[in-house]
Amino acid sequence: MDQDHIRLSVAAVLQVFDPQSPQARAMFRLGLESSVIFAIIFAMVAGAVVYALMRYRWHEGEPDPRQVAGNTTIEIVWTAIPCAIVVALFALTARTMSVSDPPAAPAPDLLVIGHQWWWEARYPKSGVVAANEIHIPVGRAMSIEFDSADVLHEFWVPRLARKIAAVPGHPNHIWIEADAPGTYLGVCSEFCGTEHAWMHFLIIAETPAKFAEWESSQLLPASKPAGLEARKGLALFEQTSCVSCHAVNGTVAGARVGPDLTHFASRRELGAGIVENTPDNLRRWLKDPQQVKPGAKMPDFKFSGEQIGQLVAYFETLK
Ligand code: CUA
Repeated sequence: MDQDHIRLSVAAVLQVFDPQSPQARAMFRLGLESSVIFAIIFAMVAGAVVYALMRYRWHEGEPDPRQVAGNTTIEIVWTAIPCAIVVALFALTARTMSVSDPPAAPAPDLLVIGHQWWWEARYPKSGVVAANEIHIPVGRAMSIEFDSADVLHEFWVPRLARKIAAVPGHPNHIWIEADAPGTYLGVCSEFCGTEHAWMHFLIIAETPAKFAEWESSQLLPASKPAGLEARKGLALFEQTSCVSCHAVNGTVAGARVGPDLTHFASRRELGAGIVENTPDNLRRWLKDPQQVKPGAKMPDFKFSGEQIGQLVAYFETLK
């Protein structure tokens, strides 16, 4: 697990060099332009120091060089140059901000809420509620509003957008966009407690047609399970305190504490990226969530093997 996390974190940092959206490209360009300015400053300062060392090296019997105290021209020049550098960096930064951040708080296409330790995504225009896997249509800048249910989190998709803090009760906004269909890695980049390291998410960019298809499939209520095992699983789910935290559209479960499970089986990952979403991993998760993701808010219900089998059968129907 730890190695997986280190691998993903390194991948996230390296992805900064592979921008895949107008916003990420603008920031990458700012990084390059600033680096060039800094490299020139470094070369000039280091060059001047080396020149002075060589040129004024002390030799046996030589008098001290001419001493200078105060020179108005030099002082004006060495004040004006840093001012010009700061103004240039400010202008470049302002240009980048105008590309990466919405000008004012727009009506969001997407509301993303950080939780310890997963992400909730709500699409206010359609009513879709997703968790950890955020679908977007390609080629369109989606305005995202951020909030947090508990502590500070930070949303970061290195190939698509800048980092943005999810602050409880203080909405922040960015644009997010992807040039091409694909799956883009996201991480939480603000320490937020035990499982901060496992607060991964995926941005899944699709063609507008596929995105619309996904959105309408997510709006469907959960289908009634057909098999006996799955029906028993549904009954067990509705009777236990699962329903105090989770929602499954079409059942008695409507709580908003944990992830919405209406389309649980359509997700790729479990526990905000800690394991793949397979029946075996779900079994392990239900048997003892703390063993899969120590610190996770999901308690250990001490389900029997039979009960776990029923629950797994039910959750696998939630496509
Ligand atoms: Cu959420 Cu770190």
